[in-house]
Amino acid sequence: MSVDPRVPWLVDDLLRVEELLLETAGSSLHPLVSESSTHLIRAGGKRLRPSLVLVSSRAGEPGRRATDLAAAAVELIHLATLYHDDVIDETDTRRGAPTVHSKWGVEVAVLAGDYLFAHGSALGAEAGHDVPAILAKAVADVCEGQIVETAALSDPRRGTDHYLGTISGKTAALFRASCEMGATTSGADGEARAALAEYGHHLGIAFQIVDDLLDLIGDPAITGKIPGTDLKEGVFTLPVLIAVERAEELAAMLERGERDLASVLPVLEDTGALLEAREVAEEHGRSAAAASRRAGSGDWQLALETIVEGVLAQVPLLQR
Ligand code: IPE
Ligand code: IPE
Ligand code: MG
Ligand code: MG
Repeated sequence: MSVDPRVPWLVDDLLRVEELLLETAGSSLHPLVSESSTHLIRAGGKRLRPSLVLVSSRAGEPGRRATDLAAAAVELIHLATLYHDDVIDETDTRRGAPTVHSKWGVEVAVLAGDYLFAHGSALGAEAGHDVPAILAKAVADVCEGQIVETAALSDPRRGTDHYLGTISGKTAALFRASCEMGATTSGADGEARAALAEYGHHLGIAFQIVDDLLDLIGDPAITGKIPGTDLKEGVFTLPVLIAVERAEELAAMLERGERDLASVLPVLEDTGALLEAREVAEEHGRSAAAASRRAGSGDWQLALETIVEGVLAQVPLLQR
């Protein structure tokens, strides 16, 4: 999949960040450390969060070293959360490649995740401005969202507000932080920074709803992940929670442990829950686009809107 924002300068900007990423994550002389820590970087990934830092930095003075450092920092921290998330979700495939724990074991996956987190924090400290504070707050929010989600595991009645609260932390916080770091490292003004933060928040919400839809109806050849993982793990996401509100028997089914995609999907389709969830994502996409317009104008602002469209376009066509 691609969220190509169609601005030529982003390719060069991302190449610089890519170099920083590989150099930092691969800096250990111990092959096991550098191989396990660069594994997912080499496997692929969309580099969405660094792209948000770089595009947002165009609201101020672009090209500063601090912006590149913040962009690499947020991807390293994102990677750390993926290493740990795959252990928690017990999933074998990520970015179309074997997960770190399935290749080297849980101990290496947890420690390599911490290692990436530490290097991300170091780059954040080197970036200066208020990057360390922004990152620290975002990571706390990510963990909080993830813990609150875990506490409601296997509860089909946790409700859509509970869901939106958890994804605001576990996913949107890092998107918001990326945009804010682009603003602060480039010296953009306070108004632009606030608007970019709001953009990142709404984009992050839309993004996680789309990711959750793709876990139900996505093509693994495109997503690089195994479908049905959320259901299997008892993470009941927006389409499922909407369907439960409309068809109470689904809750009983899920509680009985009937959680395979083949039995759940027809209920999601019949209740219109897939469509409704996509509409909620689109609504947040519209809020994100509106916030980006308040941040300023230029090719970078249009790129922010293109990113929103790219995220929403990942959802396969659904019949209305
Ligand atoms: C995966 O994020 C984790 C979620 C928040 C759903 P991405 O979909 O951005 O993962 P990569 O970086 O492209 O692999
Ligand atoms: C990701 O949520 C949350 C993180 C903070 C990594 P998911 O569990 O839906 O992410 P994927 O689908 O495994 O990438
Ligand atoms: Mg997961
Ligand atoms: Mg997912």
